[in-house]
Amino acid sequence: MRKGLFITFEGADGSGKTTQLNKVKEFLLEEGYDVIITREPGALDIGQKIRNILLHNEGFVSDRCEMFLFLADRSQHIDALIKPSIDNGKIVLCDRHTDSTIAYQGYGRGQNINLLKELNNIAVHGVVPDLTLLYDVSTKTAQERVGLEKDRMESAGLIFHEKVRNGYLELQKENSDRIKLIDANRTIEEVFEDTKKNIVKLIQERRGK
Ligand code: TYD
Repeated sequence: MRKGLFITFEGADGSGKTTQLNKVKEFLLEEGYDVIITREPGALDIGQKIRNILLHNEGFVSDRCEMFLFLADRSQHIDALIKPSIDNGKIVLCDRHTDSTIAYQGYGRGQNINLLKELNNIAVHGVVPDLTLLYDVSTKTAQERVGLEKDRMESAGLIFHEKVRNGYLELQKENSDRIKLIDANRTIEEVFEDTKKNIVKLIQERRGK
């Protein structure tokens, strides 16, 4: 069986990436591909518990604790779901992955970025996305889309989210072969046109059809 593909969706809370991920899933299923969708944090049972602490803990969560919890979730997710699915020939669409840690814990919270890259390497054990779509939207628009019901991460404030956005843009420049920048300040359909072009291109390059 042919090896699968691993595609990650990144961007601010409120960037619309999850909507796009679901549209990609529908599109690929219609085309007859074997697709699974998943997300970080919290795809699996252990991850659900970690997600609950990360997003809904009422008390103090230290920045280092937060960092290790995201990485712990990722390690489990790679071993239990992502790697086996790719090895089984599936196209894996993942809502957030390693770049979220660099953008949020690195640029946002101020943890050492080189160290985070090393820790990400340990967590993913050699599995790297074939393509990452980065949905970039102004922080103001993103915050308006999120609305008033905010989780712990979403409540971190405008300055934090501006740092996260700039971090993502920096990462895209460093990894422009893997990370494709998509202007998410437009309508869902316009954004999907760009999304689809990138996905079709990847499949043609990797699978020759
Ligand atoms: P989620 O509700 O899944 O938000 P979204 O729909 O915007 O993806 O919450 C995930 C939150 O966790 C989001 O605010 C980003 C944050 N996050 C990190 O800070 N670091 C990480 O490594 C990951 C995967 C997510």
